[in-house]
Amino acid sequence: MVGIDIGTKSIKVIELARSGEAWVLKASGAVGFVGISPDKATDEKELQAISDVLAKMVKQIGISSKEVNLSLPESSVFTRVIKFPLLSDEEVSAAVKWEAEQYVPIPINEAVVEYMILEKNDKTNSTSVLLMAAPKAVVEKYVKVMRLADLTPVFAETELTATARALASNDGIFLILDLGSSATDMSIVKNGMLVFTRSIPVAGDAFTRAVAQGLNINLGQAEGYKKTYGLSSTQLEGKVKAALDPVFSLVVDEVKKAIHFYQTEEKGELPSSILITGGASTMPDIVPYLTEKLGIETIFGNPFAKVSLDPETVKAMAPYLSLYSTAVGLAMREE
Ligand SMILES: Nc1ncnc2c1ncn2[C@@H]1O[C@H](COP(=O)(O)OP(=O)(O)OP(=O)(O)O)[C@@H](O)[C@H]1O
Ligand SMILES: [Mg+2]
Repeated sequence: MVGIDIGTKSIKVIELARSGEAWVLKASGAVGFVGISPDKATDEKELQAISDVLAKMVKQIGISSKEVNLSLPESSVFTRVIKFPLLSDEEVSAAVKWEAEQYVPIPINEAVVEYMILEKNDKTNSTSVLLMAAPKAVVEKYVKVMRLADLTPVFAETELTATARALASNDGIFLILDLGSSATDMSIVKNGMLVFTRSIPVAGDAFTRAVAQGLNINLGQAEGYKKTYGLSSTQLEGKVKAALDPVFSLVVDEVKKAIHFYQTEEKGELPSSILITGGASTMPDIVPYLTEKLGIETIFGNPFAKVSLDPETVKAMAPYLSLYSTAVGLAMREE
């Protein structure tokens, strides 16, 4: 399948083909764009502009199918785990239909609602269901961008659903942290299934603004300082780190809250590791910083862990790994 992840600042495309138990990479590409992301677009001209960038890239990298899976920004999708008594699959379906309205904060007839059964537990007599709802208007904009690029959208899911498929192994508990440009999305994944998600509007852009303010330099320079010195406490006498600290702490606090929520409300275990991804996850010294603040092993998520790549490709892709997690997960989705 082909997976297309349209972020705030860049579009990523991945095509995978199945080869026995593993996948092989057929095509990949990432391109930055200036302008507005589809969810924030207000007219067709803005959607057309994104679509033009997408169409050009897709042509360049050469994908072999027009059918694509796409991701919806976490921030515009409502996701929540809800509990029912022990029910059959049919009963869950009916219960979701009847009860979604009371959980979903958008009018139900203006929403696309989906759910997934996470667990049926005999001991606690309960069924855990992951409920997701996206405004129809937002979904339609992403569909429109694909259609304008002469692509056929087959399936849409949240970014974190796709990212988890690429990064998390099927057993164990992981916390995934996707640090993009406008949002940091986090999820807790248990045995391959999402059990918690959260999106906060603090990410790469906010880090750059903080460096600009803290060092009294312009945004262009700040972007460079952020990428070169990041969270290092020795480089530039730790001045960049000092500027980043207050904003980055917001992310750290949110991760702590997520873990606390999962442990208290869901009686869950501590995640064994934190898998970081997204453009801003490549900030220098982020790994020791997070490991120290959170006390949990932090590692770069490898989106190609389940894909067989030849050594040449591994080398070529190495600097861009953090960009592709969502697109890879989308390309792994098979109906
Ligand atoms: N080496 C680096 N150090 C720090 N930040 C970096 C580095 N490389 C890229 N970034 C930041 O990563 C961000 C872009 O990441 P990404 O492409 O994942 O975002 P996006 O998917 O377009 O955005 P979003 O997911 O928020 O919609 C930018 O803020 C950029 O400054
Ligand atoms: Mg992103």
